[in-house]
Amino acid sequence: MKLTISELSLLNHRLENAEPAIILQEIYHLFGNKIAFASSLGFEDQILTHCIARFVPEIGIFTLDTGRLFPETYDLIDRTKARYKIDIRIYFPDRDMTENMVNSRGINLFYESIENRKLCCNVRKTQSLKRALIGLDAWVTGLRREQSVTRQDMNIVEFDEVNQLYKVNPLLNWTEENVMVFVQENNIPYNILHDTGFPSIGCQPCTRAITEGEDIRAGRWWWEMPDQKECGLHK
Ligand code: ADX
Ligand code: SF4
Repeated sequence: MKLTISELSLLNHRLENAEPAIILQEIYHLFGNKIAFASSLGFEDQILTHCIARFVPEIGIFTLDTGRLFPETYDLIDRTKARYKIDIRIYFPDRDMTENMVNSRGINLFYESIENRKLCCNVRKTQSLKRALIGLDAWVTGLRREQSVTRQDMNIVEFDEVNQLYKVNPLLNWTEENVMVFVQENNIPYNILHDTGFPSIGCQPCTRAITEGEDIRAGRWWWEMPDQKECGLHK
């Protein structure tokens, strides 16, 4: 399924100020069961899971287990499945690639260089994402513009050139405050690490708590510059 440039821009114009539930319904109408949601179990993703479970349960949800997640994140997977009575499909990294990487470069290779960090993200996340996207026409993410300099120029619906399918970002225009209010008002289950200084949570060795006044992504790959901080899922 391919949209023309004008169809895509009309769609974005229509969805620019729409509620996430409406965006999800519209894109399900457009892509049918050829769409799935990639959840990292962060606040934004939990909001989207809530909306999917309530309004468009036909949209499948998956997560990429890197093998290096926090125990609190695994706990949240189970709590979320139980609360919404949904399935969350889990993808693991390729065994041979992971073993080769770790045995040649070390178990904590990511601290050594940006090249090593990107290799690890590629093996543990991007390759699994590629598998998860096979056969799909679109995927949904919890990205927000406000999160990072690398996310400013995105659109609600855009063509993902790297993976060759559409990418839908229903919370793109949401502020941090919008997110927090929605989570509280709807009593959405969230990672307990969020209560102890972790606004953005990825893998355990690559995420630290932040202090008052620091940027929300300051605790992700904290040893790298802000314009380097993408793991390869979102280029
Ligand atoms: S990252 O690139 O820095 O890791 P971030 O944690 O901000 O990304 O998450 C942005 C979006 O990418 C999430 O809302 C989710 O859609 C997707 N995502 C990130 N990590 C994962 C994961 N492990 N599994 C599935 N989706 C993920
Ligand atoms: Fe590896 Fe860290 Fe990337 Fe996780 S975030 S895949 S541990 S480099």
